Amino acid sequence: MAKTALITGVTGQDGSYLSELLLDKGYTVHGLIRRSSSFNTERIDHIYQGPEEENRSFLLHHADLADGVALVNLLRDIRPDEVYNLGAQSHVRVSFDAPLYTGDITGLGTVRLLEAVRASGIDTRVYQASSSEMFGANPPPQNERTPFHPRSPYSVAKVYSYWSTVNYREAYGMFAVNGILFNHESPRRGETFVTRKITRGVARIKAGLQTHLHLGNLDAVRDWGYAPEYVEAMWRMLQCDAPDDYVVATGEGVSVRQFLEYSFAHAGLDWREHVRYDAKYERPSEVDALIGDATKAEELLGWKPVVRSRELAGIMVDADIRQLSDQLAGAAVRVDR
Ligand code: NAP
Ligand code: GDD
Repeated sequence: MAKTALITGVTGQDGSYLSELLLDKGYTVHGLIRRSSSFNTERIDHIYQGPEEENRSFLLHHADLADGVALVNLLRDIRPDEVYNLGAQSHVRVSFDAPLYTGDITGLGTVRLLEAVRASGIDTRVYQASSSEMFGANPPPQNERTPFHPRSPYSVAKVYSYWSTVNYREAYGMFAVNGILFNHESPRRGETFVTRKITRGVARIKAGLQTHLHLGNLDAVRDWGYAPEYVEAMWRMLQCDAPDDYVVATGEGVSVRQFLEYSFAHAGLDWREHVRYDAKYERPSEVDALIGDATKAEELLGWKPVVRSRELAGIMVDADIRQLSDQLAGAAVRVDR
């Protein structure tokens, strides 16, 4: 029988790719969306507004990770085989400005969901979106045995969620897993994360719409992979015989400066002519270097990364140039009328 999944954070980068993956596998996908005063479904509109046949397999429900009762009701109604908890206040810099809100949604929100699974009495497998940020100050390479040393309200909340997931597994025998994912990007990445900010900036500079890009710390090193590959690892974790926790990463560390070089060079530009420093993008405490060792995922899940950071930068720059030229063409048509 076809499986059913519930995804929190369905409107985000990962939620949209995971929806596509599960629909391709024949799942019925339920997405939790929160009410917004402006449209927040841009990344999933192409699925939701797709052919009628597909629509019946993709359903959206209004709820919020702040609302435990709504979560219980939703789970009782849907009775999903799998739950993917991708919803979060996911921006590290913002978490310093909104630490309580981040703790509530990114931390307590996970416990509300785990409790809702328990209270509704359904037999479901739970995926928790844990993060390499939890390793924080501990130097690379980081793997499942590396201790956590979180450096932001965001990563503190993720550590709480990580251990809550482990605790529900141990205390209640729940099939609950942590995917400890290192940074993963795509043309659907939020515009305020550094890779997308850079590739979007490249497209706008190339088109003559702006001359400069303002950034913070260029020395930080991240292990940047390709989001569509990472959602496949999430799904694989829930298909195992027993629940466990896995690091998902490429193993390649690249500085923000290097990613700038890749992105600008791809468009035939020199980043040094266009990038300015702005202290407002610095964090009160920074994570200097994250480089993952995904040996366990490779051995036990059969998962292997393909796209590396240089190719990723090219994919994202090309997509942003295309998107901008479509927007400009659309605007020109509207002006002509
Ligand atoms: P994202 O694009 O920022 O998406 C976050 C999602 O959470 C959005 O759908 C957002 O809804 C939703 N959300 C925010 N507050 C919520 C609330 N109160 N109730 C319900 N939903 C809420 O994040 P992503 O990059 O796809 O990442 C997915 C998950 O993986 C997140 O938990 C993130 O922390 C974690 N993670 C990401 C990475 C990475 O490199 N991308 C690495 C490790 C872990 P709106 O659209 O309405 O804002
Ligand atoms: N966002 C941003 N904007 N970051 C900048 C900027 C800027 O203008 N300038 C430099 N940086 C540096 C940050 O200081 C950080 O060291 C690095 O670029 C990456 O920042 P982000 O792209 O915001 O990602 P992140 O690594 O902090 O967090 C992302 O990855 C985590 C996994 O390690 C998010 O997706 C988290 O949700 C995720 O858990």
